[in-house]
Amino acid sequence: MKARIAVVHGPNLNLLGSREPQVYGSTTLAQIDEALRRLGEELGVQVDCFQSNHEGALVERIHAAARDGTRFVLINPAAYTHTSVALRDALAGVSLPFVEVHLSNVYRREKFRHHSYFSDLAEAVISGCGALGYSLALRFAVERLMTKPAD
Ligand code: DQA
Repeated sequence: MKARIAVVHGPNLNLLGSREPQVYGSTTLAQIDEALRRLGEELGVQVDCFQSNHEGALVERIHAAARDGTRFVLINPAAYTHTSVALRDALAGVSLPFVEVHLSNVYRREKFRHHSYFSDLAEAVISGCGALGYSLALRFAVERLMTKPAD
């Protein structure tokens, strides 16, 4: 059976493509997810993508990942990066390794974006690579899984 990798997108990322393209680029979320699924096939893993604008739904998706055989999470918590103790606690609670991804370089932006509730728990943080950041995160996750086989 293929290893499962969950991709979790936070609020407003459903607007990618038309949302502040000068900051986030012109690639849509559907295009990002499709590229990840295709790369997953190439690398031999199953990629499950999920987006929500609701904090509780994101928390529940993380809980479900602990039960459905997911081995790694790629998450862009979007604005919840800077506010959500609940989502941080969900990731800590399920003990799944994760990569924190941001399309923009949050450190070149407003000060309130410089703090993340996730970075100190993350295996890695990718910020400022645009849509490519997700592919880099997936390659990293697969590499990690290859060196650490399932328990
Ligand atoms: C973001 C950066 C966040 O500060 C912002 O609230 C987002 C997107 C990014 O991908 O660059 O919604 O996570």
